[in-house]
Amino acid sequence: MKIRLIVLAAAALVAGPVLASQDLANKKGCMGCHAVDKKLVGPSYKDVAAKYAKDKDAVTKLATKIKAGGSGVWGPIPMPANNVTPEEAKALATWVMATK
Ligand code: HEC
Repeated sequence: MKIRLIVLAAAALVAGPVLASQDLANKKGCMGCHAVDKKLVGPSYKDVAAKYAKDKDAVTKLATKIKAGGSGVWGPIPMPANNVTPEEAKALATWVMATK
């Protein structure tokens, strides 16, 4: 019984930050154009994570793009600027890179 509780608590700790950013992505409307594992209007987050897996500046670059928008990396459709603070953009970029 005690062991079961510890396992549950550990699972909650691991899942916590990921869920927080999935929530944020929902709230900020990201999931209208993106999904974690399939392409919608924009690339899937897994594809993004795979593309930048070896890039140590990925979180900084993606945070900038999430906030300001941009185009030309994945296809002809641009991403508009999003209504996020720099901190939120960084949290979202960190979460995207963790979806791989
Ligand atoms: C209106 C649709 C739309 C919305 C809303 C949107 N995106 Fe995008 N996103 C795109 C498109 C289209 C691209 C591909 C742009 C390109 O080819 O450079 C993209 C690209 C990206 C990339 C990869 C950037 C790169 O340079 O490789 C990330 C990361 C991303 N979006 C995260 C987000 C997050 C986080 C949000 C919410 C704050 C969000 N997007 C909201 C359409 C959208």
